[in-house]
Amino acid sequence: MSCTLRRTVLSLIYAFLELHVFCSARFEITVPSAPLVAVHGQSAILSCTFPLDGRFDLDSTIITWQRRLEVVHSFYHGRDQLALQSRRYANRTRLYHSELGRGNASLRLDRTPPEDAGEYMCSVSMLSGSQSKSFRVKVAAFYTEPHLQVSASPQGVELTLTSRGYPTPKVRWLDGTGAELSNDTQTELRRDAQGLYVVSSSLTQGSGSNSTLTFVLSNQDLDQEIRREVSLQSEAVTVPPLEPSGLGRCYFYSIPEAKDKLGKVSVLDLEDAA
Ligand SMILES: *[C@@H]1O[C@H](CO)[C@@H](O)[C@H](O)[C@H]1NC(C)=O
Ligand SMILES: *[C@@H]1O[C@H](CO)[C@@H](O)[C@H](O)[C@H]1NC(C)=O
Ligand SMILES: *[C@@H]1O[C@H](CO)[C@@H](O)[C@H](O)[C@H]1NC(C)=O
Ligand SMILES: *[C@@H]1O[C@H](CO)[C@@H](O)[C@H](O)[C@H]1NC(C)=O
Repeated sequence: MSCTLRRTVLSLIYAFLELHVFCSARFEITVPSAPLVAVHGQSAILSCTFPLDGRFDLDSTIITWQRRLEVVHSFYHGRDQLALQSRRYANRTRLYHSELGRGNASLRLDRTPPEDAGEYMCSVSMLSGSQSKSFRVKVAAFYTEPHLQVSASPQGVELTLTSRGYPTPKVRWLDGTGAELSNDTQTELRRDAQGLYVVSSSLTQGSGSNSTLTFVLSNQDLDQEIRREVSLQSEAVTVPPLEPSGLGRCYFYSIPEAKDKLGKVSVLDLEDAA
């Protein structure tokens, strides 16, 4: 091969590569690069935009939103085509027809339940090109104001805080110095009828000490942190014996914050110490 020929071949290859790069760069749709967090029960906009080459023909534009083979929403022949739409999405999707001419194929998803979480694919096909891209949608619900329950016994006091949200939270209890208390805590999770998590976290404190405890719940997807301080005052009081054999010692607990901060009247529990 002569030098000139080789150079010609090489420049043809370069020209082809450039053309190829140029073509795929010309029709490139854009979807969120990070997972989208939808708030449970509310509307979420699943973003998908495409380039316009000046001329836009609505009738030859095909927009499809899918989760694997499940059709979330589809549009062709100039209108929404919902005959094959999955029942789970019936009456919950909206494509903004007036936005299509601006290169915007974003879809609104209404009343999102936890099951809407997953991988969504936006496909755009039109005269100037076609492309599909996927991204992840997460569903999260803000945890509700924790509800405090207190039960006291001669051995100590058990504080239980209950809250509801989604997805699974991180729960911690801290002592007065900010150190994590993990030995005397117990956290349980269950799902309610809506698919949300009900988290109940208990801490047991031995009797006869005053302490300030902090409950911390975090829901990372929503950057939500609930921090509630509970100060527990415990006082040993000597009272006349109720029975000849009984010991006349009672523990008296009070939780000053319980009334206004945690929605439950403070509990003063009197019990015989064995
Ligand atoms: C959607 O809305 C229509 C009209 O309001 C109603 O007839 C249909 O039952 C609804 N479908 C679902 C699955 O809710
Ligand atoms: C696309 O349309 C939706 C609905 O009107 C809007 O919320 C969104 O901001 C639009 N996206 C762009 C990139 O214009
Ligand atoms: C927690 O329990 C572990 C093992 O049972 C023990 O080694 C540790 O000292 C305990 N921590 C506290 C703060 O009581
Ligand atoms: C706890 O606090 C109360 C009220 O301030 C006080 O009367 C009691 O003696 C304290 N108990 C202990 C064990 O320090």
